[in-house]
Amino acid sequence: MTAPIAIIGTGIAGLSAAQALHAAGLEIQLFDKSRGSGGRMASKRTEVGTLDLGAQYFTARDRRFVDVVQQWLARGWVAEWSPNLYHSSNGQLSASPDEQVRWVGIPRMSAITRALLGALPVRFACRITEVFRGETHWSLQDADGEAYGPFSQVVIAAPAPQATALLAAAPKLASAAASVTMEPTWAVALSFDSPLDTKVDGCFIQDSPLDWLTRARSRPGRDGSLDTWVLHASSRWSKQHLDMDKEAVIETLYGAFAEVIGCAVPPPSFGLAHRWLYARPAAAHQWGALADADLGLYVCGDWCLSGRVEGAWLSGQEVARKLLEHRQ
Ligand code: FAD
Ligand code: NAI
Repeated sequence: MTAPIAIIGTGIAGLSAAQALHAAGLEIQLFDKSRGSGGRMASKRTEVGTLDLGAQYFTARDRRFVDVVQQWLARGWVAEWSPNLYHSSNGQLSASPDEQVRWVGIPRMSAITRALLGALPVRFACRITEVFRGETHWSLQDADGEAYGPFSQVVIAAPAPQATALLAAAPKLASAAASVTMEPTWAVALSFDSPLDTKVDGCFIQDSPLDWLTRARSRPGRDGSLDTWVLHASSRWSKQHLDMDKEAVIETLYGAFAEVIGCAVPPPSFGLAHRWLYARPAAAHQWGALADADLGLYVCGDWCLSGRVEGAWLSGQEVARKLLEHRQ
């Protein structure tokens, strides 16, 4: 009997690879350090409802991804989001409608990865710290010293810095992953007891600590009695304030929000800050996926392509393609 394939990471890239390998009849075992799937598409349960603090929506431009999103739509996993879009530059807010189709998970972003995961075998709350090869097979070790294996191949589907730490067995892959800089994003959610008097559902922002804001209830399938907004700080501001106290982050970004939004903004009744340390690659790459097929070690993730949900999904498909090609 052949040993299963280990996949480290249950974000969209890891689950895209998992689906393709499972569909090809291979046995897989997934691992994630978090308590649930989704990674940067995860949604957080809070006292004001479940909030999407990472990826806000996604676009589909590659034909393969366009097709799969249509399948997700047919299964009720996603819906189109058509926000009243605005743009803010130098404090000037203006409507900025466009024709772009944008998708969100229903009723939350994490619904997509949860559906992709289905009944596939997964071990959550398991941070892999070492990936090592014996004479014929791979083994993994987690932060508690527990070992897993044997595996025929290993797919690492984590952000570049976290992948680098697991690539000691393949120095070339490690140095490619180490060359990728990933930038942080501070995310803040603010809830107001009464709806703010604005038509804005989403706003792209320049010349501010913020680069994006959105109204949670404008997104299909979301409810909640409060008017909740999600704000994303720019990479630049997030880097400069990486270790800022969460309360101070909420306070500062609340101020920036009030300046941008162009209506009266009372003090929020709820505020939450979340720091994404490895939010986005500083530059896009065209690697698709990284592989040392002879060794049996593979790497995927958004940073191998566009740094977006679509790129992550395509990278997972590419890693599966490379792995299946080698097994033939
Ligand atoms: P991840 O989602 O990061 O998944 C990696 C997984 O690996 C995680 O679950 C992590 O827990 C796990 N992991 C890491 N190390 C280990 C380890 N050692 N052991 C076990 N598990 C491990 N994209 C868009 O297209 N549109 C947007 O609007 C958008 N907005 C965004 C806003 C923010 C604030 C952020 C942070 C990202 C946004 N993105 C957006 C980017 C998008 O979320 C990512 O491109 C995509 O989700 C990345 O998927 P991934 O599977 O490559 O990585
Ligand atoms: P998209 O096509 O909606 O946006 C791409 C970019 O085009 C936007 O960032 C914005 O600058 C500009 N833009 C698009 N529509 C606009 C409009 N109507 N008015 C003014 N400007 C507009 O989506 P795509 O290409 O799928 O990009 C995903 C989004 O996710 C981007 O906004 C990107 O910044 C964001 N993202 C955020 C991350 C973070 O850590 N904060 C990480 C990765 C992606």
